[in-house]
Amino acid sequence: MITTATLYSTGFLVLILFYCVVGCSTAEDPTQGFAELPFNSSYYYIQKPYDLDVSKRYSFVNGTHQLWVYSTDKPLARSSPTRPRTEVIINGYNYTSGVWQFEGNAYVPSGTSGVCIMQVFGADPNATITTTLMLRVYSGNLTYYTDPVIVPQIYDRWFRVNVIHDMDASNVKVYVDGFLSYQGSGRGGAFHFFKFGVYAQKNDSDYMESRWKEIKIFKKIVHASHKKHHCKKNLEFN
Ligand SMILES: *[C@@H]1O[C@H](CO)[C@@H](O)[C@H](O)[C@H]1NC(C)=O
Ligand SMILES: *[C@@H]1O[C@H](CO)[C@@H](O)[C@H](O)[C@H]1NC(C)=O
Ligand SMILES: *[C@@H]1O[C@H](CO)[C@@H](O)[C@H](O)[C@H]1NC(C)=O
Ligand SMILES: *[C@@H]1O[C@H](CO)[C@@H](O)[C@H](O)[C@H]1NC(C)=O
Ligand SMILES: *[C@@H]1O[C@H](CO)[C@@H](O)[C@H](O)[C@H]1NC(C)=O
Ligand SMILES: *[C@@H]1O[C@H](CO)[C@@H](O)[C@H](O)[C@H]1NC(C)=O
Repeated sequence: MITTATLYSTGFLVLILFYCVVGCSTAEDPTQGFAELPFNSSYYYIQKPYDLDVSKRYSFVNGTHQLWVYSTDKPLARSSPTRPRTEVIINGYNYTSGVWQFEGNAYVPSGTSGVCIMQVFGADPNATITTTLMLRVYSGNLTYYTDPVIVPQIYDRWFRVNVIHDMDASNVKVYVDGFLSYQGSGRGGAFHFFKFGVYAQKNDSDYMESRWKEIKIFKKIVHASHKKHHCKKNLEFN
């Protein structure tokens, strides 16, 4: 017997199916086609308020980087006009071409707001900003700069971030937990590197913290045979 309720629920199922065919995406492995590069403490250092010891704003315990800063803290250098920050700066992989990828598992405790937690540094020198990408948190929303919202409500849980910067095509992609959650254009510039931690922005909370683990840096594998002068068959990193 077909009741109105059955009809309603069938309609609902069809609607869900429709959404899944049209809109559902499955988690991907954004690192496919990329080669992981060596990464350890030789590839980064910590930027923190200039008047404090690193240990006052950063810890690395059991593989987890914990970075925190207060709204009233000093900038990274006495002469700097920038807002307070505690960030890991990956200065071992400055890049000027190619396709690069940052991966990390991040955790932002509730209360932390008005803060940048990850950056692709470097942009057109004539631009008013010095970055190609900022991932920020406003009241629990993970955002690309101030908008759009990439993922709402990311407080108090670990989430995996993959940021791909294709310098050649001038675009950026952000994956959260394996889902492509943002893509947009690059912002020029000839020189880039990745950073993560906490960097206070407008409307910052009194206290800001992010935690990061399993940081990995990747570079897209370029097949030598795809290049104009292919004399070798082996893979090379461009
Ligand atoms: C990090 O790895 C490099 C090799 O990529 C090695 O030369 C260096 O000694 C390592 N540094 C630390 C602190 O383990
Ligand atoms: C680090 O990991 C070990 C082993 O899992 C655990 O016993 C210890 O409590 C952890 N320490 C901290 C500070 O989380
Ligand atoms: C990356 O660039 C910075 C300048 O921003 C420089 O201090 C650092 O030595 C460079 N790193 C490498 C590995 O060349
Ligand atoms: C920056 O602006 C100057 C003056 O307008 C121009 O000459 C230069 O080419 C610009 N640089 C870039 C990278 O666009
Ligand atoms: C957070 O994101 C939700 C959904 O996108 C939005 O409605 C809300 O206004 C955002 N909150 C803030 C503080 O941006
Ligand atoms: C900062 O807060 C003010 C007032 O609450 C609000 O109008 C503005 O949109 C906020 N800016 C950002 C970047 O969140």
